[in-house]
Amino acid sequence: MKTRAVIAAVLLLLVTLSVSCRSSVVEESITENSTEEELITVGFSQLGAESDWRSTNTESMLSALSKENGYNLIYKNGQQKQSNQITAIRMFIQQEVDYIVLAPATETGWDTVLNEAKEAGIPVILVDRRVDTTDKTLYSCWVGSDFELEGQKMATWIHDYTTMIGVAPEDIHIVNIQGSIGSTAQIGRSKGLSEAVKEYGWDLLDEVSGDFTETKGREVMADLLQKYDNINIVYCENDNEAIGAIDALEAAGKVVGPDINNGEIMVVSFDGINIKALEYAKIGKISCIAECNPLHGPRVQALIEAIEAGETPDKFNYVSETLFSSVSGITSIEVEGKTYTITPVE
Ligand code: AHR
Repeated sequence: MKTRAVIAAVLLLLVTLSVSCRSSVVEESITENSTEEELITVGFSQLGAESDWRSTNTESMLSALSKENGYNLIYKNGQQKQSNQITAIRMFIQQEVDYIVLAPATETGWDTVLNEAKEAGIPVILVDRRVDTTDKTLYSCWVGSDFELEGQKMATWIHDYTTMIGVAPEDIHIVNIQGSIGSTAQIGRSKGLSEAVKEYGWDLLDEVSGDFTETKGREVMADLLQKYDNINIVYCENDNEAIGAIDALEAAGKVVGPDINNGEIMVVSFDGINIKALEYAKIGKISCIAECNPLHGPRVQALIEAIEAGETPDKFNYVSETLFSSVSGITSIEVEGKTYTITPVE
């Protein structure tokens, strides 16, 4: 008798609990539906916050995919870890978002999770970097920079400039402070340099990752100065690394500038968004910057709007970019038959 009474009490408690749980879920979804009804829900997985470029890119995405523009944006910072990004994508799938926007940290390792998104019927838009999947239908489209072209443009600028000032190719001793290994930006920029090294016969002393950060750029440059005493060009794969590298060079008593015939060490870099880097470009501490444009928010917005309108956007959408330099003598360069004008830094 006593046991039956206990069982009845437990059952009553369970029923009460389940009713109250269900009613709170319903209440939540009613609230969501009434306020978010017209909004497009986007899950955005950003890879991290390693550089000024990245912060500007995040701001651009947040302001384009805003409530005022008709979006309910769920933003997740991956803190430089692909595993965090994969977790975020799985969460977006569970939340049944309308679109997933992914700025991937590295190119490989996305097949499984992107398949899950595809099975859930959620279109994936890639922004900035790319993924290396055999099945290209795992994402709808991509928008970003042509990183290999950026590298080719920089290498051509170095070639044209050093030729102009009469430095023989074998006297060009370069170190490459690479970006995060395996990212599209690193792969493309390193390729642009290594092809020029082969073509012109420059001396590429070393390639070490600076992870796109100022701290690592400083650290890596200090180590390289311990190893080599003949470096005359430092190829930094972003501006933050260049700022760190310049600090290390100056701390070691080196003069940074384009006059390598007279012992200066020339620094070149990528991005053109960091104020300090642009100041450095103005005074010749950074001799040339290949632009990498971070303002992808409105571009992603346009891609979503095109899909919403039933269109199929181009698979790969490239952004056009310039080079910034205040070093006199080179006003334009040519890569694969196309001319690119150098933008002076004001
Ligand atoms: O993928 C773009 C690169 O990533 C930018 O050049 C760099 O600054 C950033 O961290």
